[in-house]
Amino acid sequence: MKLWGGRFSKSTDKSVDDFNSSIRFDSRMYAQDIRGSQAHAKMLGKQGIISKEDSELIVKTLGEILQDIEDGKVEFTIDAEDIHMNIETILISRIGDVGKRLHTGRSRNDQVALDARLYLRDESAELDKMLKDMLKTLLSIAEENLDTIMPGYTHLQKAQPITFAHHIMAYFEMFSRDLSRLTDWRKRMNVMPLGSGALAGTTYPLDREFVASELGFDSITQNSIDGVSDRDFVCELAFVLSMIMAHLSRFSEEIILWSSHEFSFIDLDDAYSTGSSIMPQKKNPDVAELARGKSGRVFGSLMGLLTMIKGLPLAYNKDMQEDKEQIFDALDTVKMCLPVFCGMLSTLKVRKDKMLEGAKGGFTNATDVADYLVKKGLPFRDAHAVVGKMVAYCLDKNTVIDALTMDEFKEFSDIFDDDIYTAISLETCVNQRNLPGGPAKETVKTVIERYKKNF
Ligand code: ARG
Repeated sequence: MKLWGGRFSKSTDKSVDDFNSSIRFDSRMYAQDIRGSQAHAKMLGKQGIISKEDSELIVKTLGEILQDIEDGKVEFTIDAEDIHMNIETILISRIGDVGKRLHTGRSRNDQVALDARLYLRDESAELDKMLKDMLKTLLSIAEENLDTIMPGYTHLQKAQPITFAHHIMAYFEMFSRDLSRLTDWRKRMNVMPLGSGALAGTTYPLDREFVASELGFDSITQNSIDGVSDRDFVCELAFVLSMIMAHLSRFSEEIILWSSHEFSFIDLDDAYSTGSSIMPQKKNPDVAELARGKSGRVFGSLMGLLTMIKGLPLAYNKDMQEDKEQIFDALDTVKMCLPVFCGMLSTLKVRKDKMLEGAKGGFTNATDVADYLVKKGLPFRDAHAVVGKMVAYCLDKNTVIDALTMDEFKEFSDIFDDDIYTAISLETCVNQRNLPGGPAKETVKTVIERYKKNF
């Protein structure tokens, strides 16, 4: 008979068992379910709600069940519906009536809310580590490329020269925000819901604070209805994960472009690229493409979760069981993408020559020619117009501004002097942009040094 089967006169249809049960995906929370139950049992004993001996036997047996699960000795069954009832059923099969006392003052509604928080908190620690690895990888690539001049783009048109270090450090900023979002999320989610019961709390004198501190929570939930129906923390984590994927996806797009023959800014390591079954010459950036592609399913999880809760009346509804596959898949996806992406980044070769060549074309120093005139007294709009004419002239002659003779310069403005050539060299263009946040070598170096202290 089912643990809740008392009021039923026939067993559930097989199709309903299959449909209703969540064990095939929530079994991964077994360790958290057991940890939560041990804390609950300990508290029940401490409060005299069950006897000390019963409490100790439950805690001990749950520990043995955990070990058996880890040793692969336990088989879960859909008859027991979900991980919570599977473990309780196993407990009862081992210690009989004593095991039946565990669920005193508890509902699966607050139990699942607890388990989900514990599970996601554990997972977030791994995510933290992976994001930190990504940040370290980015710092070391940036450090090696402080002098690597490349074109910076807007509208994917060459705009102004920058360094590869500066470009890479833009991603560092994005992934550090992801890391800090995760830290913020942890603060808000680290609240203990047990004691909310089914929705209206319980009459037993539970010590909720004790359970919270046993399980490493900062505080306890303040409303029993919200305690069981809140899934904000799941949605919020799905957003944090989506943002990570959005960043990986933008990065992927650049990796794909840069490794194309047309750009040739980077060479992916053979170990991180793949071939074609028909075209012998091909070396494809599959890792980046898959990371870009997988962003879709993580965004999908976020949408799925928001849609799942948006019409739910308070408090618990079975719809909420649907939160797990979504958030687990999003977590698994991000955890699969981050390490392989790091590996791809740390092994790729930077084609400094190609980046420099790229920066030389496309009039990336045109703004600096205008700024040169401005610094010698011409209003910026007039300088802009002068340089616009120079660009048109160069395009016509198939040349670049740096290659013009002094006579040619003078035809556009007699302000030009010999110092123009150094004023618009790519090195000057980059290194004069030394405001905080700018691409100048010394500026970027200072930023890297500051961030390195965090690791
Ligand atoms: N497996 C359920 C879930 O994931 C556990 C809570 C079930 N509660 C209930 N009253 N049916 O949401």
